[in-house]
This record gives sequence, C-alpha cells and structure tokens, in this order.
Amino acid sequence: MIDLSTSYLGLTLKNPLVPSAGPLTRSLDSVKRLEDAGASAVVMYSLFEEELLKEERMLDRFITNPSLGHGEADSFFTPHPNYKSGLDAYLEQLSKIKASLSIPVIASLNGVTASGWVAHGKELQAAGADALELNVYYVAADFNQSAADVEARYVNLLKSLKQHVSIPVTMKLSSQFTSLPHFVKQLEAAGADGVSVFNRFYQPDIDLETLGLTDKIGVTSSKELLIRMRWIAVLFGKVKLSLAATGGVHTRDDVLKLLLAGADVTHLCSGLLLQGPELIGQLLDGVSAWMERREYESVAQLKGSLSQQHSSDPVAFARESYIRVLDSYTPVTKAWQ
Ligand SMILES: Cc1cc2nc3c(=O)[nH]c(=O)nc-3n(C[C@H](O)[C@H](O)[C@H](O)COP(=O)(O)O)c2cc1C
Repeated sequence: MIDLSTSYLGLTLKNPLVPSAGPLTRSLDSVKRLEDAGASAVVMYSLFEEELLKEERMLDRFITNPSLGHGEADSFFTPHPNYKSGLDAYLEQLSKIKASLSIPVIASLNGVTASGWVAHGKELQAAGADALELNVYYVAADFNQSAADVEARYVNLLKSLKQHVSIPVTMKLSSQFTSLPHFVKQLEAAGADGVSVFNRFYQPDIDLETLGLTDKIGVTSSKELLIRMRWIAVLFGKVKLSLAATGGVHTRDDVLKLLLAGADVTHLCSGLLLQGPELIGQLLDGVSAWMERREYESVAQLKGSLSQQHSSDPVAFARESYIRVLDSYTPVTKAWQ
C-alpha cells in the first residue's frame, strides 16, 4: 500500500491534492463533494482587503461620525440586526465548512496595502481555520517602486499578520520576483510557514471592435506548470518552508512532476472546474499506480528526488540547458524549405 501522506504547513495530509481558492471552495455543497472525492484539505475562496476596508469605512462613517455626510439622517443609522458584512459572511461560511468537513480548512486573505486589514486573520483563526493563505495579488506597475519596495510590501504584510495569529501562514506569490530564492529566504526569516507558487495574474485584453479592454478569467492548461516546477525544484531542500504548487495541475503526470520537483502539495482549481470532483480520485489512482510500478513506497520518498537540492550551481545548470535547448531546435514547419 502506497503511503500518499504529506506534511504541509505543519499539518499531516492524507495525500498531496488540495483544491485551491476559487469558486469551488465557496459553497458548502462543493467543498463536501471535494472532500468525498478524496481532497486532503481545501483552501477557501479569498476574503478581500477591499471588502473589509469598504465596510470599515462605512461603519466608521455611520457610527463614529454620525454628523458627517448626510447630517442628522445618518445619526439614525444603526446596523440592522440581520446586516451581514463580508467578514461576517466569510466567518459564518468558514465555521460551517469547518463543522462539516474532517479535512483541514485553509482560509485565504487577499490584499496589498498595509492598512491593518490583516488583523482580521485572528477572526479567521477563531472561526476554526487550520492555516491561512495570504495572497498579495499586486501588479508592480508603479514607476516609483523598486524591486526591494515590492518585496518589502509582502514581508511587512506577513509580519503584520503573524502578530495576530498563531496558526501557520503561507504566502501565494507572484512569479515575477527578480530574485525569488533570496526573497523566499526573507519570507522564511519573517515567519512564513510556506509559499504557494504562483499566483496567476489575469491579463486584460484589447477588443479591436470596441477598442475597449476585455476582462476574462479563463481556465489554465498543463503548459502553465513548468514555471512552477522549475522554482519548486530550486527551492526544495534549501528552505524549511512548505512548498505548494498552484497553476496548471490537470493530470497524473502534472502531480508526479511537481512532487518529484519537491512540492508538498499540488493545488487544483481549473482541473476541477473542467473535470469535476472525480478528477481527484483519478489522479490519486494514477499517482499510486505509477509509484507502485516504480517501486516508490511513499510520497515522502518521492518528494524532491528530481529537485536541484544537490546541484552546486543552479544558475550554471540553467545556462547550460538554455544553450542546449537552443542548439537542439529543429524547425517543425516547411516554411523555410
Ligand atoms: C474563477 C476563479 C476564481 C479564483 N478565485 C481565487 C481567490 O479567491 N483567491 C485566490 O487566491 N485565488 C483564486 N483563484 C486562483 C486559483 O486558486 C489558482 O491559483 C489558479 O487558478 C491557478 O491554478 P489552476 O491552474 O489549478 O486553475 C481563482 C481562480 C479562478 C479560475
């Protein structure tokens, strides 16, 4: 019997398949179906800084400053007993999900500014979250900010959150850091328990008919996996943090490659949206059968066995493979014959 268990953020999970934040971890019904299908933990959809701040501003205006805004009329405002803020709704859903699942539940906070919103992490912890994922979805398009400024934003948000919670915290990272290994070391020093690579930045497109921007978030394919695999392989064994891969996990091979590179867990979102909860069982069966054939006994044994842990110079290794791959290119079309 293959031992698929894995350790992630100090939790022992029965296997490395964890549905990531998204539409499927919103409803009680779908998380239950994910657990029944074999998921070892779930990451809930995100609670956004913008939601938290909007409500704080609204309540502040109506309650602490009743004389501002609409004058006397505002002073009659007291929150309706049934009024549910975004935070209340999230906490309620988290408590319900926790009560009905037996697998760990990771809550997700998503934001970018140092305005105190991360303090709400303590309410998520009190509502039963086993760990927190902090997603700093930040497009670094400010000409006045250096790479160090962008990194400091992540580190400061993490430190601030860690002051409010005692449960493990992992950070969902952008793939666009100048020096990812150095930055991940900084996160480790600042108290991170894990990193999840990588956030998928949604890219607006131009509609040539309307000359406006189009906003669309599509699903991924396995092609997006390779950048995750590379950096997991670089990080494995060089940091003590848990490593999660998110982006492009659709098949048995995707899961195996990420584990071989060194991932503790592989997150699933698009794959589940496209193929349904049954995908989890298929992946688990496929991974177990492959491991059995290759005489691996456990995920722990497999994990990181193709990482760059023992590579003395990953930079030179990357240069060598780059030159080799360019040299070996053979045209696939007849256009130049
Ligand atoms: C419709 C949709 C909603 C998502 N919502 C969130 C979210 O609330 N918080 C978050 O951190 N990631 C969110 N994600 C990102 C996913 O968790 C995941 O990181 C990303 O889709 C890449 O993984 P995949 O290739 O398995 O889809 C969302 C993705 C999709 C497609």
